[in-house]
Amino acid sequence: MSRGHAVGDPRSLPARARPQPSSDGIALAVLGTGYLGATHAICMASLGHRVVGVDSDAIKVEALIAGRVPFYEPDLAPMLGSWRDAGSLTFTTDPTSVEADIYFLCVPTPQEANGKRCDLGPVHSALRALAPQLRAGDVVVGKSTVPVGTAASLLALLRRLRPDIEVSLCWNPEFLREGHAVEDTLRPSRLVLGIADGDKRSEVLLRRVYAPLIQAGCPVIVTDLATAELMKVAANAFLATKISFINAMAQVCDAADADVVTLAEGLGLDPRIGAGSLAPGLGFGGGCLPKDLHALQARAEELGVGDAVAFLEDVDAVNEQVRTGVVSAARDAVGGDLAGVRIAALGAAFKAGSDDVRESPALAVIARLAAEGARVRVYDPEAMARAAIDVPAAEYVASAQAAMLGAELTMVLTEWPEFARIDPTQAAGWVRLPVMIDARHIVDRGAWQSAGWTVRAPGRRPYEPTAAPSEPYARGAVSG
Ligand code: UDX
Repeated sequence: MSRGHAVGDPRSLPARARPQPSSDGIALAVLGTGYLGATHAICMASLGHRVVGVDSDAIKVEALIAGRVPFYEPDLAPMLGSWRDAGSLTFTTDPTSVEADIYFLCVPTPQEANGKRCDLGPVHSALRALAPQLRAGDVVVGKSTVPVGTAASLLALLRRLRPDIEVSLCWNPEFLREGHAVEDTLRPSRLVLGIADGDKRSEVLLRRVYAPLIQAGCPVIVTDLATAELMKVAANAFLATKISFINAMAQVCDAADADVVTLAEGLGLDPRIGAGSLAPGLGFGGGCLPKDLHALQARAEELGVGDAVAFLEDVDAVNEQVRTGVVSAARDAVGGDLAGVRIAALGAAFKAGSDDVRESPALAVIARLAAEGARVRVYDPEAMARAAIDVPAAEYVASAQAAMLGAELTMVLTEWPEFARIDPTQAAGWVRLPVMIDARHIVDRGAWQSAGWTVRAPGRRPYEPTAAPSEPYARGAVSG
C-alpha cells in the first residue's frame, strides 16, 4: 500500500473537517497496543507525530511491525502500513528503549473476575514500569477507562515513585466505537482533557498533540481529573440505559400490539432524545458498555452513593431479559422444545463491523440454544475464530448459505449488512422450514414473507402488508 490517501487516512476524510497533519510533530509513546492503543498509535502517526507503541505481548507487537492489525477494524491496516513505511510509527516490547515527550496509558481495565469492580492491575503495572524512565517535563496521559478517583491516586503514586522530578499526569478518555475507530479518533465528537490543579504543561502539550483536530473544529472540554474520568463512564452508562430503555419498550410493544421499530424512529427524531443507541434488538454487549456499567455501580457503592445509580441494576436486568426473550421466542417458533432442532445463527460478533465476541449478546444466545440441545450452525463474517473458542458447542461454517442449509429456524443475531442482502426466495430453497427470528430488525419482512417465510421480530407485531407499508429500519443497520 502506498503512503498517503489510504482509506481512513485523514486526507481521505471529507475536506470540511479533515485534520491536517501537524507540522509540530511530537514524540509519543503509547503503552498498550490493544484495540484502544493500536488505534491511537496509528491515528496519532497520521497526525504527523513520531509514535512508538509498546506492549509486552510479543505476538501482538510482531503483527503490528509486520503491518497486520491483530483485530478487525475497517481502515486501520492501510494506515498502519503507510505510517510504518514512512518511519513515523514503530512498535516494541522493550519499554526501556523508548524516549518520548508524552506517554499515553492505553492498557486494558477489565472487570474483576469475581465482582463488578474494574481491575486496575494492568494500569498500576504500566505506571510502575514507566516511572523510572520518566524525565523532568514528560507528561503521562491516561486514556484507559477507569473508576473515578483513579487518576488522582495514580498521580500520587507517580509522585511517590519519582520524588526527584516534577511529574505530570492527566486524563484524556477515549470515546471510540469499534467498527468506527478511525473516524471516531480523527473526528471525535469532543476532546476531554482532565488536568490536575496547576498542571499547565499537560494541557499545552495535549493541545499540541491534537492541534489538527482542534483546528478542524473539534470541541475541547478542559476539566479536572475526576470529571474527565466520569465523562467516559457516564457516557457508556447513559448509552446502555438508552439501549435498555428501547428494549424495555419492545416488551411493552409486544404486550400492546405496537411496533418498537417505528416507536424508536419517532423517538429518535426528537432532538432532545436523539436517534443514537436507540435501536432495539438484542441489547448491549462488547468490551466496554457492560463492564463500565458494572464498574460505575461498584464505584458508586464505594463512594456511598450506590442508591443514586440503583436504576443501573434495571438497565442490566432488561439487557438480560432481551437474551432470555429471544431464546424463548426460538423455543416458541419450533413448538416448545429446542432439543435436536437445526438452527442457523447469522452473526456471533457483539455488533456488526467487529470481530469482538466479548459479552456478545449473539454468542450468549447461541450458547443458550446449544445448551438446550439445538444443533446450531453459526456464520459470522469476522468473528468465527473467536466465537468458536468461547462456544465450541456450536458448528461454525463458511457462509450464511451453509448455516441455513436444512435449518428449521434461522436467527439474525448480529446486524451485518450482508444478512439484510440475502435473497429470501433463494434462501427458502436452502432451509427445511422458512421460519426466521430477526432479532436485529434488519431484514425486509415484506420481501421475506412474500417469499414464503414466517418472520418474527421482538417488539414487532406480525407483519401485515396493508397495515405496515414502510419498514423504516429494514434498509439499514443498528445506529450508534
Ligand atoms: C461503546 C461506546 O459507544 C463508545 O463510545 C466507547 O468508547 C466504547 O463503548 P462499542 O462497544 O464499540 O462502543 O459499541 P456501541 O456501538 O456503543 O454498541 C454497544 C452494544 O450495544 C453493541 O452490542 C450494540 O449491538 C448494542 N447497541 C448499540 C444496540 O443494541 N442498540 C443501539 O442502538 C446501539
